[in-house]
Amino acid sequence: MADLRYIHPLAIGAVRLDNNLCLAPMAGFTNLAFRLIAKEVGGCGLVATEMVAALAAPTSSNQLRFGLLTANVAQEKPVAMQVYGREPEWCARTAAALAEAGADLVDLNCGCPVKKAKQAGCGVALMREPEQVGRIVAAMRAALPAHIPVTAKIRLGYDSANRTGIAVAQAAVAAGAAAVFVHARTGESKHGVPVDLEGLKEVVDAVHRAGVPAIANGSLDTAAAIRAAKDVAGADGYQIGRAACGDPWLFRNLIAELSGGTAVQPALADRRRLLERHFELIVDLFGEERGVRVMRKYTFFYCNGLPGVRRFRDRFMRIASRAEFAALVEDFFGGVASGAIAGAGEHLTLADQGEDDGHG
Ligand SMILES: Cc1cc2nc3c(=O)[nH]c(=O)nc-3n(C[C@H](O)[C@H](O)[C@H](O)COP(=O)(O)O)c2cc1C
Repeated sequence: MADLRYIHPLAIGAVRLDNNLCLAPMAGFTNLAFRLIAKEVGGCGLVATEMVAALAAPTSSNQLRFGLLTANVAQEKPVAMQVYGREPEWCARTAAALAEAGADLVDLNCGCPVKKAKQAGCGVALMREPEQVGRIVAAMRAALPAHIPVTAKIRLGYDSANRTGIAVAQAAVAAGAAAVFVHARTGESKHGVPVDLEGLKEVVDAVHRAGVPAIANGSLDTAAAIRAAKDVAGADGYQIGRAACGDPWLFRNLIAELSGGTAVQPALADRRRLLERHFELIVDLFGEERGVRVMRKYTFFYCNGLPGVRRFRDRFMRIASRAEFAALVEDFFGGVASGAIAGAGEHLTLADQGEDDGHG
């Protein structure tokens, strides 16, 4: 019988997730194509769009961007969409627009640590203002139909001197949040810093006392890390960001390992098939010219651990059309299969691409 200690269904308000592994929102990455892959290949229980800015008066280019960010399809559902902002009225309007666009859950970003967010009083700056978080969540709650839950994605605190995670979580739940996603670091800790499971436990306990589930986030990239988030901190679910980028099969393998089964690594032909499918999904979304460029950052996902990955990635940076994509993929995968490309396996990460700046 499957072990249900770690992986199990999870209810967030009226939304039932088939399992409690969630894809974290990642700006520039978690578009429709990537979410579909995470869902189809990985089988994660919840996918998420990247953050959508709550503006006073969206311009037509904002509206175009909104359409691209929120494009969604039935096969990926349920899908969470995320509001980034601080004005309750604007956030409420954006939440309603996200619901209209097909969001099944609407999340508030209280974690983005970039300078621009801090200066605007958004993202992690909200970790200094529990009351404001309460006002925003209440306004979003009031703007949404009852069946669409509001959630908040927070950190353990603004910084190590302001460990406000408990206060912010409590304010969010008191204002109507149906779950809290907790990144187990403060706003000042970089991704390389180990997650703080004791600090996470304190916030998770407070969220539980308030009566809703708490989903852990932060370097949950192995079965051991997930077991620790459960055993040490009592998390009800797990949200995975960067590691899902390095490995589209991660969710499937974690579910297997944590349920008493074994992980199975994809065969070379599976990697190639999925890369080709991802490319077509990206081209459908962005068109051929832009799609080829957008695809650059995803290509290495499918090749990690194979020989010659760096060179393949570098060559990929110069292609400009679907035909060049097909030729390069044939060259690389054909070369690895025949042994013409050989040597030690190479691994690339988001950091190698300069994209690990930790928005959340
Ligand atoms: C490129 C990138 C973009 C991100 N964009 C968002 C975002 O739009 N909203 C958000 O809440 N967090 C964002 N994050 C933070 C992640 O959701 C997550 O909290 C963080 O990466 C830690 O989890 P991980 O160790 O599983 O990656 C982003 C992270 C990265 C690396």
